[in-house]
Amino acid sequence: MPLPECPRVISITSGKGGVGKTNVVANLAFAFSRMGRKVLVLDADLGLANIDVLLGLTPQYTIEHFLMGEKSLSEILTKGPGGMSILPASSGVYELVNLSETEKLFLLNEVDLIADEIDLLLIDTGAGISSNVLYFNTAAQESIVIATPEPTSITDAYALIKVLSTRFNKKDFMILINLAKSGEEAKEVFQKISRAADHFLGSLSIDYLGFLPYDEKLLSAVRNQRPVLEIYPRAPSSRGFIDLAMILSERPLRDKGIGRVQFFWKQLLQSYQRSDQKGERL
Ligand SMILES: Nc1ncnc2c1ncn2[C@@H]1O[C@H](COP(=O)(O)OP(=O)(O)OP(=O)(O)O)[C@@H](O)[C@H]1O
Ligand SMILES: [Mg+2]
Repeated sequence: MPLPECPRVISITSGKGGVGKTNVVANLAFAFSRMGRKVLVLDADLGLANIDVLLGLTPQYTIEHFLMGEKSLSEILTKGPGGMSILPASSGVYELVNLSETEKLFLLNEVDLIADEIDLLLIDTGAGISSNVLYFNTAAQESIVIATPEPTSITDAYALIKVLSTRFNKKDFMILINLAKSGEEAKEVFQKISRAADHFLGSLSIDYLGFLPYDEKLLSAVRNQRPVLEIYPRAPSSRGFIDLAMILSERPLRDKGIGRVQFFWKQLLQSYQRSDQKGERL
């Protein structure tokens, strides 16, 4: 299965919390790993990083150790189910703002080294529209916005798209509906978001990626700290995750020039620098 223009960088985001981002990241990473892809997961949920908990892992180091010069980037990568690698960001990413030019070059150089070993970087951004969430989404080449049929989730997804498009000029989004009762309900939720965006935000590209149903097996997998796709491969949500991985694999990239992992880090560092110059705090 081709995954064109590797490595790709995809952020998973939502506006509202608790809508399934971390489960989507974990299971998508697992699905891609099973397809033979080398996947790196960046846990960028700086407030409450929890992909390690979801996957039953206890990483020894985070990006902080790297930034403090104690560990190399490859030393802080933690192996997860299916062979995926996880880069636990923790609050250490705050330190990016204070890096000197030399340190940034060093970081980018290290990223170059591991970029060759990655086909796909998946970023769990955390909830909300804090600066961190916005920066990670801006730096990522593609973004999946997750919404559920709950009205608050719909308005929060729209609010996130609004701020990313108006303040950061991000024009392409993909939407995944979680916890839908049916394909029709999911489609309606998608249309609410895309119509509002068409009406108020002008020319954006918003693609529908499909939906995931409510699934008891997913809850059970969370309790077992394993991806649902690993322990219940035939569960309804597992089938949804496989479909999602296939759709993404076959989806051509709009902007071929900016897919590199290195580009992502450069963008991220520049964003932090810009916000610092403006006196904005994270
Ligand atoms: N399709 C689903 N079926 C059943 N339960 C689900 C489904 N998706 C998510 N959940 C439930 O919602 C919880 C929250 O999911 P998850 O941690 O992935 O959300 P999140 O968006 O990452 O949350 P946060 O914003 O706090 O990081 C899960 O632990 C699970 O209990
Ligand atoms: Mg989460």
